[in-house]
Amino acid sequence: MEEIARFSVTIDSELLHKFDSAIEERQYPNRSKAIRGLIRNFLVEREWEGVGGEVMGSLTLLYDHETKGTFEKLIDIQHDRCKNIISTMHIHLDEHNCMEIIVLQGLAYEVSQISDKLIGCKGVKHGKLILSSFGKEIG
Ligand code: NI
Repeated sequence: MEEIARFSVTIDSELLHKFDSAIEERQYPNRSKAIRGLIRNFLVEREWEGVGGEVMGSLTLLYDHETKGTFEKLIDIQHDRCKNIISTMHIHLDEHNCMEIIVLQGLAYEVSQISDKLIGCKGVKHGKLILSSFGKEIG
């Protein structure tokens, strides 16, 4: 039998409440099963890092531009890695929130690394990278 591990998570109660509602809608029997599914999805996505050759990626970020330093940090990271940044689109969603769609190109691990850095910035509320190929292999 596989060894079972337990861990605790610190999370703000509003976010946990939303998560509980979402897992109820999806009819997960409990939080543990839902979190195991999320962890598996995360690990599958990470497998892209092992893919050789160049990939394209689109990263969507949602952030509050009023959080001190967030905008500057996001811009700094992009300038540091400008060889991998093809294009950026910025949308002002409301008084506080901005959406940024960043198109990246490079080796899979480079694109993932830059995305992780951007998503990890303070003030970023949500971030999702979609990795894709150049389509040559798809036909
Ligand atoms: Ni904006």
